[in-house]
Amino acid sequence: MTIQYPTPSTAVTVPSGAARPRLTFLGTGYLGATYAVCFAELGYEVLGYDVDGPKIDKLRAGEVPFHEPGLDELLRKNLAAGRLRFTTSIEDAAAFGDIHFVCVGTPQRADSMAADLSYVEDVVVALAPHLHRKALIVGKSTVPVGTAEWVEQLVERHAPETSAVEVAWSPEFLQEGHALEDVLRPNRVIFGVRSDWANAMLFAAHKGVFDLAATEDREVPVVVTNFATAELVKVAANAFLATKISFINAMAEICEPSGADVTMLARAIGYDARIGNKFLRAGVGFGGGCLPKDIRAFQARAQELGVGEALRFLHEVDLINQRRRQWVVQLAAELLGRPFGPAGPDLSDVRVAVLGATFKPASDDVRDSPALSVVRKLSRSGADVSVYDPEGMENARREVPDVSYARSAIEAVTGADLVCVLTEWEEFRHADPSALAEVAAGRVVIDGRNCLDPVLWRRAGWEYRGMGRPA
Ligand code: UGA
Repeated sequence: MTIQYPTPSTAVTVPSGAARPRLTFLGTGYLGATYAVCFAELGYEVLGYDVDGPKIDKLRAGEVPFHEPGLDELLRKNLAAGRLRFTTSIEDAAAFGDIHFVCVGTPQRADSMAADLSYVEDVVVALAPHLHRKALIVGKSTVPVGTAEWVEQLVERHAPETSAVEVAWSPEFLQEGHALEDVLRPNRVIFGVRSDWANAMLFAAHKGVFDLAATEDREVPVVVTNFATAELVKVAANAFLATKISFINAMAEICEPSGADVTMLARAIGYDARIGNKFLRAGVGFGGGCLPKDIRAFQARAQELGVGEALRFLHEVDLINQRRRQWVVQLAAELLGRPFGPAGPDLSDVRVAVLGATFKPASDDVRDSPALSVVRKLSRSGADVSVYDPEGMENARREVPDVSYARSAIEAVTGADLVCVLTEWEEFRHADPSALAEVAAGRVVIDGRNCLDPVLWRRAGWEYRGMGRPA
């Protein structure tokens, strides 16, 4: 493994003959669309490919099919500049690209904890037969260790022998809501390669990233390593982040009965640079399309490798995370003086306003959202739930159709016996507790993200309960 700060130019012959490698991004979901736009912005000729025609039509029309701050503007700018195109033709993608980045989803399989690799297989098998000159296929999707070698075998089986196509792995670390910065100004890039040519091609494909860093007097560390390490970097990083969140949520569980305040605790331990203050926000826990399914797929893969015990703690990380969701419902029953039956708390005839549906703010993503999971649990306990979210209403309604949706926070809170804030949108942080108190039926609030000011809310007459904070 080598760690290097890149030198400005690494000479490599680009197969298409273009001055810079032409890039395709296969799969224009969150990852692929964001990368396609950002790399066009960095000056590359880019083609985004997807099997989903309506999604491609939207992108061509300058519309981002999901919410990501700043992306619409960059999409339209780069479409207009002619550097960025989208297609549903895999033949066009094959003919165009020097480097093909695989950005398709790897969701959890319906029948196990493992990752579903069928989209990776489909796109590689579709692309490979049309590669008539040398090209590099680079995996970006989060995958179980061993996938890159398997992709190599697929390529060997399906690509014309003369094309000598190579494979590499370069995981991504973008965070929804912060994706542009993460792609344009990454804190590191990882190249899992088998040849000097693949390494040089990846350097050439990231020259725009390095040049931008140089103009801003930054350095971007590059870790050049083998396939397995590159694949593991991603899942290990996500497992660590999930563990950190569950650690602080376990501390919140201890704080609750002992009268300690987990927000102070996190601040105090975070001052130790070895611990760090990031990803120590206690609350309803982690969700989204990445952390939950990644820690499960990682455990499944470790079991296949005969080392399941090594990751048994991730099962506990998952359990702590799930418990936080249930805790909100339990707390709701406790605060409203509702009885617990064998089937859990009985919240019938209680009106609950839920503020937040997405798995985090600045996103419209509701995949495995803790907020929506709590909504389901509240509704199953008999509560009449009204949900409001600034960006996630459409996705939430599709996911949980059988609850009410309000057009504003104030509408959701009107007549509610209990308010639960479950996503820390700015709009909720800065909501006026006095105005909400006037329309609510009961002044009880559960702050599932510890994002409200308890002093202000209590002063406005609310009974405030945070997560892992004194009553
Ligand atoms: C995560 C990783 O942070 C990225 O580095 C990675 O590239 C990405 O997954 C991926 O695999 O593609 P993301 O899913 O966008 O990014 O969201 P995070 O910011 O990691 O948040 C995940 C969840 O943890 C959210 O529900 C958030 O509310 C929660 N969280 C985060 C906490 O509960 N406490 C914290 O202190 C931080």
